[in-house]
Amino acid sequence: MKQLLCLLFGLGLAGRLVAQDIDLPAPQKTGGMPMMEALAKRSTSRAFDSKDLSNQQLSSLLWASFGINRPDGRRTAPSANNQQATDIYVLLRGGAYVYDAKANKLHSVLAEDVRSLGATQAFATNAPVTLIFVADLSKMGNGSEDSKKNMANINVGYISQNAYLFCASEGLATGARASVDRKPLGQKLNLRPEQLIILAQSVGYPRP
Ligand SMILES: Cc1cc2nc3c(=O)[nH]c(=O)nc-3n(C[C@H](O)[C@H](O)[C@H](O)COP(=O)(O)O)c2cc1C
Repeated sequence: MKQLLCLLFGLGLAGRLVAQDIDLPAPQKTGGMPMMEALAKRSTSRAFDSKDLSNQQLSSLLWASFGINRPDGRRTAPSANNQQATDIYVLLRGGAYVYDAKANKLHSVLAEDVRSLGATQAFATNAPVTLIFVADLSKMGNGSEDSKKNMANINVGYISQNAYLFCASEGLATGARASVDRKPLGQKLNLRPEQLIILAQSVGYPRP
């Protein structure tokens, strides 16, 4: 009954306003720039046009970053012990979503534009997409907290670099940012205490 009411009123089970999930088109897994050229072009941008990316671009970006690239469910980025403990939250004008690589979907988390919380620097607010890389320490086994955080940071480094190379290949602008309003954004995204915001990354068209 609660689920039915939530559906009717667009409320998530936690009682927050959510939007519709987005079914992404299949990612484009062929083509692109030769790897050495993409490496030659990789750079951090801090000037974004506000034009939105298409769902096709989003799908390919997310797949390149941390999509499934083998039948056994392994991913385009390595992860310590194959724990795959990083979630990519996607902040868009229309709300916040979490990437489901298996279903190739964006699950709605919040029907509110919270890109400004993912950006303490003014340039980043203009970018149409902010990726928030969130480590879930509860998926990382029994090591010490320090060791898990260390692995979590390394895991995200690979994913972020994949996003950088995709953007270089596609002529998109991107920039990793440690500067994020972690506490208010974590609250908006309804993160559990074991979920840590590691890094943000803006993506968009370069400002002409
Ligand atoms: C972990 C990490 C955190 C970063 N945080 C920020 C940031 O908060 N703000 C920013 O403008 N750039 C940030 N950057 C981008 C770096 O400043 C940038 O990579 C560096 O200046 C080198 O430039 P390049 O990426 O074009 O080679 C970050 C990069 C990394 C890897």
